[in-house]
Amino acid sequence: MTSACPVQPLKDKSMTDEQLIALARGAARKAYAPYSNFHVGCAIESVDGEVVTGANMENACYRLGICAEQSALTAAQHQFGLDKVARIAVSGGKESMVCTPCGGCRQAILEAAQLSERDVEILCSSGDGSTVERHRIGELIPFGFGPANLGQPV
Ligand code: THU
Repeated sequence: MTSACPVQPLKDKSMTDEQLIALARGAARKAYAPYSNFHVGCAIESVDGEVVTGANMENACYRLGICAEQSALTAAQHQFGLDKVARIAVSGGKESMVCTPCGGCRQAILEAAQLSERDVEILCSSGDGSTVERHRIGELIPFGFGPANLGQPV
């Protein structure tokens, strides 16, 4: 995954890390998470500097809840296409522990990463913004299975 998806420079319209994390933190405030009370926000920046956001949305039928990353990826597909996903910020929780994408979200991000042919950067922040970790999808889901494995043209 990492070698197949090179790290490419973003255009100069790119937001600062702080700006992208601030948008993710803002999105977390719009989460619907009455069951876990764990509010997560996600902001996704395109290769052209467009940004979409999403938040987790839970359900009384617990297993139907969706994560912030999936919510934002859906918005990204509608706004500019998964193949234009460049950078992602995730923010969640109440204290200083960072929120990293769950396994399912890593797989969903891998889909976009293979389509965009980028080793997508993921800024993982605590809910209070005090702690930030920088990762790449190839590090979070090494040897992943994606559209490239199915022989899809990516
Ligand atoms: N959650 C996310 O939105 N993204 C993640 O990557 C981790 C977990 C949500 C799901 C659920 O609504 C709540 O956080 C607690 O797990």
